[in-house]
Amino acid sequence: MEKNELIAQILALKKERNAVIVAHNYQIDDVQEIADVVGDSFALSKYCAESPHDVIVFCGVHFMAESAKILSPQKTVLLPEINAGCPMADMVTAEDVREMKRTYPGAVVVCYINTSAEVKAECDICCTSSNAVKVIESLTEEQIIFVPDKNLGDYIAKKVPQKKIILWEGYCITHHRVTVEDVKMVREAHPDAMILIHPECRPEVVVLADFVGSTKQIIDFAAASKENKFIIGTEMGVLVRLKKDNPHKTFYLLSQGLICPNMKKTKLESVYHALRDMKYTIELAEEIRLKAQGCLERMLAVG
Ligand code: 13P
Ligand code: SF4
Repeated sequence: MEKNELIAQILALKKERNAVIVAHNYQIDDVQEIADVVGDSFALSKYCAESPHDVIVFCGVHFMAESAKILSPQKTVLLPEINAGCPMADMVTAEDVREMKRTYPGAVVVCYINTSAEVKAECDICCTSSNAVKVIESLTEEQIIFVPDKNLGDYIAKKVPQKKIILWEGYCITHHRVTVEDVKMVREAHPDAMILIHPECRPEVVVLADFVGSTKQIIDFAAASKENKFIIGTEMGVLVRLKKDNPHKTFYLLSQGLICPNMKKTKLESVYHALRDMKYTIELAEEIRLKAQGCLERMLAVG
């Protein structure tokens, strides 16, 4: 099918199914263009919880679609590519969390949204890179277990030094790939550009940034800034929005390694097949879903 025909079919099926298409900032251009909403993990999880649609087509990775299902059990949540997972989310299991709780019985457990429903079910409160510092500051406990991202955990620990944060050994293979050498090289090539970095990068990289934030915070910062040149230290998908919203500004990618293969699996064809065949539906055991819902809703209450 030609692209225009494919888009027309998607729009027709979307109407027929009373569906909404949401896409993460890391999705390919074509998918971002047909989506009703494009955003970061936090914005999308909030949006899905509040949306009046019967069907949510989640163009992202598995844990994101799962989070939508946790918050909206009555809706059909579709993940167009069944193998679009997050390697970082796979780095911690529910049993790992139970073991950590046995080792540190007084600690409160915070999980990054990049976790499975089973892991969320074992944790007290969730966070995203947009609200991680706010979530940690909201806790009265001093000792905090943070899973799975050691880089985001280190970033929070520096921002909230009064808390004792116990880190897990997980990381995002895409962001962790960026090195100090990459930053030096790009600074030399573009000395007048600001460096905006996602906190999933290594601490020694994050410390070299002019601004640190989630995908949305990076997008908003670049749009509001008086500066004209930016080096982007997160997955290359954000360049779609940045270039579209700021045609007179220049953006460089911090490293060519900043590509998440899982985020790139979803194509227009995947969205079409998802809506046509109503696949792949996210299903959860109610006992797990209810516990995971508490974890996510506590986060949403913090904001
Ligand atoms: P945010 O969209 O919350 O910045 O997260 C980035 C990410 O890596 C999601 O997997
Ligand atoms: Fe997971 Fe990293 Fe890909 Fe985000 S960019 S989905 S954290 S692997």
